[in-house]
Amino acid sequence: MSARGKFITLEGIDGAGKSTHHAWLVEHLRARGHTVVSTREPGGTPLGEKLRGLLLTEPMHLETEALLMFAARREHIAEVIAPALARGDWVVSDRFTDASFAYQGGGRGLAWEKLAQLEQWVQSDLQPDLTLLFDLDAGVARQRLQGTGNALDRFEREQQAFFERVRAAYHRRAAECAGRFCLIDASQSIQNIQEILEVRISSV
Ligand code: ADP
Ligand code: TYD
Repeated sequence: MSARGKFITLEGIDGAGKSTHHAWLVEHLRARGHTVVSTREPGGTPLGEKLRGLLLTEPMHLETEALLMFAARREHIAEVIAPALARGDWVVSDRFTDASFAYQGGGRGLAWEKLAQLEQWVQSDLQPDLTLLFDLDAGVARQRLQGTGNALDRFEREQQAFFERVRAAYHRRAAECAGRFCLIDASQSIQNIQEILEVRISSV
């Protein structure tokens, strides 16, 4: 039987650079000979992508939002993440549960304890081996997002104060689960960040 694969997640506020570095990291790991499942949340399964469509467009109660995030996650774990890790593959996910603590908890104000209960229910003892937190000032992230020219979704249209709360909640989560977090100063150049990732990933 092959050893369990590695589970890596990328987190941060919108515009911090997750998608850029997610794509790079997947290619980097494949070039090193790993079999890599590249995935994202909300999404990662056919049902999860349908839920993502609703989550990014439809106004809803904050608890509905949290429950749908975790429903999509339950499907993602059952159909994609757990089987891949059991095969010995690497899983690299653009966001996972820390985003629920940051956005639904920090951003929207849902009680941390309710999120912890959902986490326990949906994940049991599954946790990422490494979480790369791209840390960036909310104003700089907003400028980067606007620079892409893409239409903003329901979350990206939130005020800067929302993203400041999201960022602070990510810091709280990183302090609570310090062992698996790697905080990256995302104001650096893309090349500098890739060099940091290369070193960090070699010791997972
Ligand atoms: P996210 O997935 O976190 O929302 P993206 O990776 O889509 O962020 O990046 C948002 C924008 O910022 C893109 O135009 C991207 O090219 C740019 N970008 C990403 N990282 C950096 C960086 N370190 N320095 C400058 N621009 C960056
Ligand atoms: P993301 O894929 O990062 O957006 P984009 O493709 O535009 O870069 O994530 C979509 C949004 O979902 C993002 O604004 C954060 C939000 N989100 C939550 O609020 N809670 C969660 O648990 C997750 C996974 C994402």
